[in-house]
Amino acid sequence: MSGKIVNVAVIGAGVVGTSFLNQITTMKSSIQYNLIAILEAEHSLISKDYKPLQLTPDWRTALNKSNEKSLPLPELIEYLKKSPLPTILVDNTSSAYVAGFYPKIVENGISIATPNKKAFSSDLATWKQLFAGKPTDGLVYHEATVGAGLPIISFLREIIQTGDEVEKIEGIFSGTLSYIFNEFSTVEKNDVKFSDVVKVAKQLGYTEPDPRDDLNGLDVARKVTIVARISGLQVENPTSFPVQSLIPKPLETIESAAEFLEKLPQYDDELTKLKEEAAAENKVLRFIGKVDVATNSTSVGIEKYDYSHPFAALKGSDNVISIKTKRYQNPVIIQGAGAGADVTAAGILGDVIKIAQRL
Ligand SMILES: NC(=O)c1ccc[n+]([C@@H]2O[C@H](COP(=O)([O-])OP(=O)(O)OC[C@H]3O[C@@H](n4cnc5c(N)ncnc54)[C@H](OP(=O)(O)O)[C@@H]3O)[C@@H](O)[C@H]2O)c1
Repeated sequence: MSGKIVNVAVIGAGVVGTSFLNQITTMKSSIQYNLIAILEAEHSLISKDYKPLQLTPDWRTALNKSNEKSLPLPELIEYLKKSPLPTILVDNTSSAYVAGFYPKIVENGISIATPNKKAFSSDLATWKQLFAGKPTDGLVYHEATVGAGLPIISFLREIIQTGDEVEKIEGIFSGTLSYIFNEFSTVEKNDVKFSDVVKVAKQLGYTEPDPRDDLNGLDVARKVTIVARISGLQVENPTSFPVQSLIPKPLETIESAAEFLEKLPQYDDELTKLKEEAAAENKVLRFIGKVDVATNSTSVGIEKYDYSHPFAALKGSDNVISIKTKRYQNPVIIQGAGAGADVTAAGILGDVIKIAQRL
């Protein structure tokens, strides 16, 4: 034991939050992590005297049995501010409301570790505020906002700190769209229809409940906004650059996901034609996010890649990001699972450990 002790409060105990709590309560570490609060939307466990929560027999049972209402965010901040030990807030939600409080949280000296993209991919002013680096501010780590547990953000920040400069980033940032295009457009000729792959992806649980939330490209645009900003571009927001939506225009306003899926086959021809044109050039289609620092441009959409390109060989729902820098003219390629509870939670826990080491 190093003798160092930090307090940890966790908002969100869903898919990722559950895995995070399982990992932090069982990991071996020289730093002691005291869980002082776990909050879900409705109920919570809060240690009023800042002593570690007594999570017996386990945290999930204790949380489910708790009658304690969740604290409103301003009250939670007041509570964390008074913590006698350095404090890390882990936000395991996808809530824009919670993310809206980050500037206030950081300003009060509380550090944040989170997979929630909202605060980092909204307006540029918030980004600047969060990373202003005032000595009294809490630290902010968000590795799992891009590529889940893959070391993309930490790698970028580290090479930049050493004086390297990012030139280009190109990648498949969405596990869902990775799966869809890896099945739809393959090196071996196939007759697979786009709408059929989307249906299978939904059945396998790879898509959001409404697949349009993946097909609109916004999730990729948010991740591209984050890596572009780290690379030095002043991206205003995720809708301030070209983002290709895969939702046919007439289906944008349809009410239900079920009706959308039923009508999607009517629009297969356009993507089938694009796939055949690519195949005639020995290429496949992939859904890509791009950052080009020299031309100060970012974009999201379908691109064609030679059969020999690493993106063409991708399988399953992996993410792959290619990073070209002044020093790495032969791009660094980071590839692996870009979603999943355990890898995402490990990315967040890695951030918690980095923060604790620095505090
Ligand atoms: N799943 C993945 O593979 C993956 C990969 C990379 C990044 N992420 C990111 O990880 C985050 C969590 O994803 P998830 O899949 O775990 O989501 P999830 O299963 O929907 O869990 C969300 C959790 O947040 C809680 N919550 C929501 N709003 C809240 C509020 N205002 N106050 C307190 N608690 C609140 C929910 O509580 P209730 O149940 O009480 O509503 C639930 O426990 C998201 O930002 C997601 O984008 C996920």
